[in-house]
Amino acid sequence: MAVARPPRSRRKQMEAIALYPLDWLEERSGLVGAVKYFLFRKVPGDTNWFQTLGSATLTAFLVQAITGVILAMYYTPDPNSAYESIKHITNDVTLGWLVRGMHRWGASVFIILMFFHMARVFLFGAYKYPRELNWIIGVLLLVLGMLEGFTGYLLPWDQTAYWATVVGINLNGTGPIIGPFLSSVLRGGSEIGPDTLARFYSIHMLVLPAAIMGLIGLHLYLVIRLGVTSPPWSKKAAGAPWIEEDEPEQPARKGLVEPTPRGGAAK
Ligand code: HEM
Repeated sequence: MAVARPPRSRRKQMEAIALYPLDWLEERSGLVGAVKYFLFRKVPGDTNWFQTLGSATLTAFLVQAITGVILAMYYTPDPNSAYESIKHITNDVTLGWLVRGMHRWGASVFIILMFFHMARVFLFGAYKYPRELNWIIGVLLLVLGMLEGFTGYLLPWDQTAYWATVVGINLNGTGPIIGPFLSSVLRGGSEIGPDTLARFYSIHMLVLPAAIMGLIGLHLYLVIRLGVTSPPWSKKAAGAPWIEEDEPEQPARKGLVEPTPRGGAAK
């Protein structure tokens, strides 16, 4: 015998319709659960604005990736037409000046934010056990980020770009043992020319972004696995006995009354 279902309110029906695509996806892939696991997690109660610097760096990287893809649609990595294509992007393409400006200035913002984030991690002592590996990954990200800047600088192929790259490659050449080899690999031959530009372009828009994305994935995995560090001034993290987990703000924390030792009577 069929059992009649109780009538559902209109609001519930609308909710079910709106959530249907998500339920469909979740049932077949578990992706919604995975995103929830990634985004909704407990962090220490005394987490503060300094801990948003990592996310700010991530946002800067994403802006670089998106604007870079758009620029790559119009840029030509050839010494005879590279500069012209840059002029075309700036003067003719709709909002090209904005996308190019965002990419050019965004590069500096990305590097500066990385340094600010690194300083936060250092000053909070967040590089210590068990987060040493994430610090090492961070150092690699910093190096790759700066290499992005170096390889991108040549792409406009104007006088500043050319001579800055000459200086950069020659500096590398003075390094011990692998120096001359490194500068020859970067040049793609004995002189800076078409091969250098093609090489820098490929490294700038394929090799380095792929490596950075992989490392960011690992970096975030470790942040999720190990959790976020409390600030060094955190009384809770220092194990202050009068502050219980999930306890509401106490007068003692605001410095209004003397803390009462656990189990001891108040004076
Ligand atoms: C592409 C560059 C980078 C991105 C997108 C990035 C992103 C993040 C994010 C989102 C977090 C968690 C939130 C936070 O603590 O701010 C984090 C934590 C961390 N990052 Fe980075 N980061 C980058 C570069 C670096 C660098 C250069 C270092 C150091 C050399 C570093 C070391 C760490 C460490 C040790 C943590 C764990 C901190 C904690 O648990 O409190 N990161 N990163």
